[in-house]
Amino acid sequence: AILFLVPLLAPFPLPVLSNHLDLDLSPLPNGFLFGVASSSYQYEGAYKSDGKGMSNWDNFTHGIGRYVIIGGGNGDTANDHYNRYLEDIDLMDALGVNSYRLSISWARILPKGRFGEANRAGIEFYNRLIDVLILKGIQPFVTLSHYDSPQELEHRYGSWLSPQSQEDFAFYADLCFKTFGDRVKHWVTFNEPNFQVPLGYRTGLYPPCRCSGPLAMVQCSEGDSEKEPFVAAHNIILAHAAAVDIYRTKYQTEQKGSIGIVLQHEWYEPLSNSTADKLAAERARSFTFNWFLDPIILGKYPTEMENLLGSLLPKFSSKEKEKLKKGLDFIGVNYYTASYVQDCMYSACETGQGNSRTEGLYMKSGVRNGVPIGEPTKFSWFNIYPDGLEKVVTYVRDRYNNTPMFITENGYPEEDDPNSTSEEHLNDSKRIKYMMDHIKALVAAIRKGADVRGYLAWSLLDSFEWIYGYTIRYGFHHVDYATLNRTPKLSASWYKQLLVKYKETF
Ligand code: NOJ
Repeated sequence: AILFLVPLLAPFPLPVLSNHLDLDLSPLPNGFLFGVASSSYQYEGAYKSDGKGMSNWDNFTHGIGRYVIIGGGNGDTANDHYNRYLEDIDLMDALGVNSYRLSISWARILPKGRFGEANRAGIEFYNRLIDVLILKGIQPFVTLSHYDSPQELEHRYGSWLSPQSQEDFAFYADLCFKTFGDRVKHWVTFNEPNFQVPLGYRTGLYPPCRCSGPLAMVQCSEGDSEKEPFVAAHNIILAHAAAVDIYRTKYQTEQKGSIGIVLQHEWYEPLSNSTADKLAAERARSFTFNWFLDPIILGKYPTEMENLLGSLLPKFSSKEKEKLKKGLDFIGVNYYTASYVQDCMYSACETGQGNSRTEGLYMKSGVRNGVPIGEPTKFSWFNIYPDGLEKVVTYVRDRYNNTPMFITENGYPEEDDPNSTSEEHLNDSKRIKYMMDHIKALVAAIRKGADVRGYLAWSLLDSFEWIYGYTIRYGFHHVDYATLNRTPKLSASWYKQLLVKYKETF
């Protein structure tokens, strides 16, 4: 009977088992950020409202993307955060988070990049959002580019393929620092360019959908998929450097914030103890996150990339090298999963993704001798492996001299198959276990000396999941896409209690 009453009494309907809070948070540093994360295209909707320009994702989802995205969905409405941000901030407030990672829609505030006027209404939206967050004691943690950019830049000069994109990004970043920097103390230049670039310029699954080879006939515009990913990445790295340069010279002393970049940090474990597989795992790291972090922090591309790619890898001029020296203040680690890595340089591999010279000559696998890495899920690309978080954080700490880190995303996907009921979605105990085990692994890494300053869970709400459309849910709150109603899941209740525990610890 008591269980029956609970839903009527509490805003968070379901009870959390006390062993789900059984973890020691005392090693976390003072001022640790505990928050939730989101992004503009996945959340806002209102894709044409109040003077917003078309973004590359608007263009893609209204064009060829309709055939690529599962269910043909798009971000036209998404979870309607643009119109419901006050309600959503109330949800954050109820959780008790002290930070919120959001991204700015570049096309909302500069509909035509630097080739047109700024959009006052768009700027005002972010001003209001940031002001209310601060009023509630929630620090905004702001990403400038989370995959979306004005479509105008794409058809003017092919955006990231052209060095002009660096100037555009610098112009946009400058406007954001000038307008919001009095209140925003954590800036991220780019979210997961190590994911965005191969999908946009090699496999063609993200805009601008460029690739060559057999896939090109199906969906991509013709591109040089050997070379273009490295050109796009080069421009993104230099655009990051340009934004950091502006922040350091014009704003940082007065605004006293910090600036970094976020990479996707899947953990790679060698498939066997052989030297070849160990080298392959290191190549996998080089061709994914070190690809961006090495130039920004160490001033050059990883040696493995230089050796394999030769002239395909652009070079930094001495002037550019000077710019890169401004580096960053923190590394954003997005961690979800791990895989085994098998060598394809010295041994023959099946033909498939990942094993060409331009991809690093390795192959990923979820199993070793029939045994999976961690716990497998419904998704072949997602195994639950909390130790991977500790390993990746330790790896990043060692490689980059203990540069401060934030876990900028970590979360658990659930499939929205037609047979699942909303009770099943609300009773998300697997998400709780996943996050709890990952936070434990993070605490272990911090105890061993890693300088990690925050954990931002993905995600506050269910949202548009790129090419998976609305078929995968990551939220602490369930979104009914017919009514746009938000309902807290069991994990929301758990996170709230975890944050109470955290506050009691300090
Ligand atoms: C990383 C991306 O930054 C985010 O946009 C995405 O929704 C999550 N991973 C989950 O796939």
